[in-house]
Amino acid sequence: MIRFDSTHALLQANWQQAMAPRLAAAHESLLFDADAGVNATGWLRQPESMDLRLLNHVRAAARQIRDDSESLIVIGVGGSSLGARAALHFLQGPHHTLRHRPRIFFAGDTLDPAALTELLELAASGDFSVNIVSKSGATLEPASVFRLFRTLLEKKYGPGGAAKRIYATTDPEKGLLRAMARENGWTTFPVPSDIGGRYSVLTPVGLLPMAVAGADVAAVLAGAREEMEKLLSNRSMNNAAWCYAGARNALYENGRRTELLISTCPSFAAMTDWWKQLFGESEGKEGGGLFPAAASFPGDLHSLGQFIQDGTPLLFETVVRIDRPLASLKLPAASGDGLDFLTGRELGEVTERILDGVLLAHTEGGVPNLLIRVPALDEASFGALVYFFCLSCALSGTLQGVNPFDQPGVETYKKKVSELLGRPTS
Ligand code: PA5
Repeated sequence: MIRFDSTHALLQANWQQAMAPRLAAAHESLLFDADAGVNATGWLRQPESMDLRLLNHVRAAARQIRDDSESLIVIGVGGSSLGARAALHFLQGPHHTLRHRPRIFFAGDTLDPAALTELLELAASGDFSVNIVSKSGATLEPASVFRLFRTLLEKKYGPGGAAKRIYATTDPEKGLLRAMARENGWTTFPVPSDIGGRYSVLTPVGLLPMAVAGADVAAVLAGAREEMEKLLSNRSMNNAAWCYAGARNALYENGRRTELLISTCPSFAAMTDWWKQLFGESEGKEGGGLFPAAASFPGDLHSLGQFIQDGTPLLFETVVRIDRPLASLKLPAASGDGLDFLTGRELGEVTERILDGVLLAHTEGGVPNLLIRVPALDEASFGALVYFFCLSCALSGTLQGVNPFDQPGVETYKKKVSELLGRPTS
């Protein structure tokens, strides 16, 4: 379903032969870890191993929230929120959930008093529920924001009423949030212990907000399962994930240091935020890794375009093209603006030609270009793309000789902040 094209990678002709044995070893090592039931590879088979009862539980909670709430506040940070936000924007556009009931707001990534005061006022103006998402149950930013919204819920509905409006997604057994949920009788959903935050989009972490937004979560999982079957069984360079992971590593080994993920569609921007975390946290360690950055064309052609074309030759582009756009719009006839050559033409087609022109210009400037093709902005494509990126990332990190599932650097900052704020150690 997801297609990858390295025609314009500007790599030597034999790069695929050189990468294939290394990718085969990385593939086996991931599968071996999964088969041995160790570490953090639960996401590899998640699309087929999702328990139907759990899926029904997610759907029932979503129905309840849709029935009794005008707003849902999803509180989480990093891997506990970026995937759900990516899904909602991908499937419905960046503004949909602000216009349709229930409105879904994301919180937990800022402690800015003005932003939070505004959101608290917005929530208080109608009926609302809260989905607190934290695997560890102890991350300072979302925990602090949750305290604000929990206090508001208790003030508005009383402790019993508030308890019916709190949905906690967290570790199945451990952690403060799990303990609080038990004590207060909140509805809970598990984040499987062998799936890390950034790989957890297809668990209740992402599925509950998607279901509340009215997305067909079974179709998301079906798309991911189809991609999983295709990618896990294909041990060759025709495997799109092998080819993407291999090409970006060949470019890295040729001296490229930044990967710029490009899209032309505002619905895709939140997906690039999740992608940045996925690759940045998985590979950026031990003094190495590609820096993941993003740009939106044509807008950024008029800001970053100059650097991309002519600046320090550190980066390559990975362009995401969506085959079936959500809508069509033709340019009407008008006079005097010199645009008659565009009259009656689809803006989608104009955008495609812009991308074609950019490809010609940037490759002429020596900037390697990779291409990812996604069929549509629908549930099946979203599930497939998440799976494709997760597998590509795990293969790519393994090629670089790092553990793509830990984040020791993030833990370092969490520890320092706790010390500075005087948080007691548990
Ligand atoms: O990918 C990761 O592991 C991190 O981004 C975490 O998701 C993030 O730090 C939030 O952690 P938690 O879900 O434990 O609150």
